[in-house]
Amino acid sequence: MSAVTTVDDLIAAGVRGRGVLVRADLNVPLETSGPAPEVTDDGRIRAALPTVRRLLDAGARVVVAAHLGRPKGEPEPRYSLAPVAARMAELLDERVPLAGDVVGDSAKATVSGLADGEVALLENVRFDPRETSKDAGERAELAAELAALVGTDGAFVSDGFGVVHRKQASVYDVGHVLPAYAGDLVLAEVSVLRGLTGDPARPYAVVLGGSKVSDKLGVIDALLPKVDTLLVGGGMCFTFLAARGYDVGDSLVERDMIDECKRLLNEGGSALVLPTDVVAADAFAADAATRVVPAEAIPAGWMGLDIGPDSVRAFTEALEPARTVFWNGPMGVFEMSPFAEGTKQIARAIAGSEAFSVVGGGDSAAAVRTFGLAEESFGHISTGGGASLEYLEGKELPGVAVLEGGGVA
Ligand code: 3PG
Repeated sequence: MSAVTTVDDLIAAGVRGRGVLVRADLNVPLETSGPAPEVTDDGRIRAALPTVRRLLDAGARVVVAAHLGRPKGEPEPRYSLAPVAARMAELLDERVPLAGDVVGDSAKATVSGLADGEVALLENVRFDPRETSKDAGERAELAAELAALVGTDGAFVSDGFGVVHRKQASVYDVGHVLPAYAGDLVLAEVSVLRGLTGDPARPYAVVLGGSKVSDKLGVIDALLPKVDTLLVGGGMCFTFLAARGYDVGDSLVERDMIDECKRLLNEGGSALVLPTDVVAADAFAADAATRVVPAEAIPAGWMGLDIGPDSVRAFTEALEPARTVFWNGPMGVFEMSPFAEGTKQIARAIAGSEAFSVVGGGDSAAAVRTFGLAEESFGHISTGGGASLEYLEGKELPGVAVLEGGGVA
């Protein structure tokens, strides 16, 4: 990131009594089967709080904007930020009123009710269709209304690292209306990722998983020439296995990606490592029949849902000498216990490694916490999956770029 103004600068300039709009990424998983929805992994909320806390302590009137899920531009109760507001209030030990809308009467009343050093949360910003609009004019309109909430001497803090890759009104456009500052989380995340793209300690190993090759193609292309080892697991490994001409049974395969995978296998040579065995199931279900089969011969009617024990051993050995590790994406369907072992063992191997390790993103970060691994065993757990991949891919991140432009400051 080139020179940007930070929360330190904002506080130094004086924020007591000023409105500060903070874009945070509070897009957390919820358990909705009980009487009231509950946050099941509050990692992103915790990560957002240091910036908020500092602003509150400095006397700012903090207005947090965030999204949850992908509502279709109108209010949908299941995507309300109410459970998030409740968890924020517990963690901050402060009252966190939730506005009933994004920039409407309720938001205005909620914000005008704030005293110095108090915080409020706006309702899911994606309830407003202008947030994600492709039309820059529509986004600018919402950005102006968000800015108006914090008043003429207001400021914008971009701290939603997980969403900085989205060119959206509350992430990007608002930074053109208000003086824009980088939040502590965004600064920390970008600094770690910059280290990975600069001169990482070698050997540098990357572990990629997740379901789709098409989502990871860009980052694989960008990483292959830079890493010493690229270990591929998760649903996406089956397209690579199919590209090798193996029988993959009923496993998830993106047929239109097979040629790309052949190219990557050629280019990667021995640096690109695939599983040698997989846990196959006769259905996509936690109670399916399972068996461990060679990766080159998954029987018809069976689908690979996790990497197998030989692959875990091989991946673990490949990780041993590494001095830098980046991991994004689970090795299998870890949400179902029969297919969790691969992800768990690889997460353990990375946690136990002496390498500087970076866990990139939503699912992998959630896996670390689900398995009860100490967060301190990792060098850095990123709050952004897509955002960290796009950074490593070398793409411009709108929510960071707007800071480099300096907003209107
Ligand atoms: C995420 O979960 O990766 C971020 O919150 C961004 O969400 P999105 O992919 O719906 O834009």
